Amino acid sequence: MKISLILACAGKGKRAGLNKNKLLFTFDGKTVLEHTLDKFINSNLIDEIIVSANPDDVEFISPILPNGVEIVLGGDTRTQSVINALDKVTGDIVLVHDGARPFVSKRMIEDCIKTAIKHGGCIPVYPSRDTMVKSDGKIITEYLGKGDVYSVQTPQGFNANHIKNAYANARAHAYNDDGEVYLATYGKLFTYLGEQNNIKLTYPEDFSKLTTLDYRFGTGFDCHRLVEGRKLILGGIEIAHDKGLLGHSDADVLTHAIMDAILSATANRDIGYHFSDKDPAYKDACSMNLLQRVLEMTTELGYKVASVSASIMAEKPKLLKHIPAITENLAKALSIPTQSVGISATTLEGLGFVGREEGICVHATATLVKIN
Ligand code: CTP
Ligand code: MG
Repeated sequence: MKISLILACAGKGKRAGLNKNKLLFTFDGKTVLEHTLDKFINSNLIDEIIVSANPDDVEFISPILPNGVEIVLGGDTRTQSVINALDKVTGDIVLVHDGARPFVSKRMIEDCIKTAIKHGGCIPVYPSRDTMVKSDGKIITEYLGKGDVYSVQTPQGFNANHIKNAYANARAHAYNDDGEVYLATYGKLFTYLGEQNNIKLTYPEDFSKLTTLDYRFGTGFDCHRLVEGRKLILGGIEIAHDKGLLGHSDADVLTHAIMDAILSATANRDIGYHFSDKDPAYKDACSMNLLQRVLEMTTELGYKVASVSASIMAEKPKLLKHIPAITENLAKALSIPTQSVGISATTLEGLGFVGREEGICVHATATLVKIN
């Protein structure tokens, strides 16, 4: 049995008050639309996906759709957006879901498919916790109670031929949803249990809840050998010394430790993984350029650097007077204030390889904050 999914994504998201379609709002590193899509793709229960998109958004939505996901132009109403997508459906069962409900669970997707197969048409309902009333906005016109009053959610599931037929029969009438269209033709519509968590992101407060402060912390460590005939570069600043650091790139040990701290904060491997020391492209590479690439990757994952802190372990040269220039250079590269870049330096009191001036080590930490 082939299962199709229509994702209704062609709205304008006016009530959300964002400067773009709410489905393109990013949280946890992905757009709302990608979160919703991933729920269905990861369920492994869906064979065909058709996204109904607003013409204004196609240029933003197309690039984020995985291979195989079809896109159709939506209409002025949700009903029309669903009708346009239904034309493309080749499955036996079709699920219709709001792109704006990214918290749908696998349990709901399974129940929707099972109930649609068994009964031909179903919608998820969630029992009202509050007593529900009807009102004209000023006075109550009817008490509806709470025991048998439910909120209607999506995904709604149907025998594909039935829902196509129901839409073909539908009168020119503003239907609330696909379930109502189905009911008008088939007279009986089944339910399965929805979930409180399966909210439809609608108003600004729904989005501000998603952006509760989300911090990530990372640590990084690096060490390079001190040799004659090389430059000593720390945080992109060249420091006069009779020795410099040996490495495939410019061996900027401070910037390397900071990059590793930033990468580890989003569990994005390390600099050796991204910039192999076997790759000739990175021979003598300026580490400040690699730092920019790390920042781009971090942005792609939905985070930005809020602060970094690093301890340089070097017996010589004395770094005290260089710290302000290093701090300023790093702050500029990271696009954060100098007060958010804490650089300290210490000797190791003559102990170990650092004490013998054979190398310089740096331990760094980074704090990242989610971007929205
Ligand atoms: N939708 C659609 N085509 C439309 C209108 C809405 O595909 N012409 C989709 C929306 O993209 C959303 C779902 O239907 O995923 C539920 O609609 P709603 O929450 O009302 O979204 P919007 O219409 O985008 O928001 P608003 O009403 O605030 O403008
Ligand atoms: Mg709407």
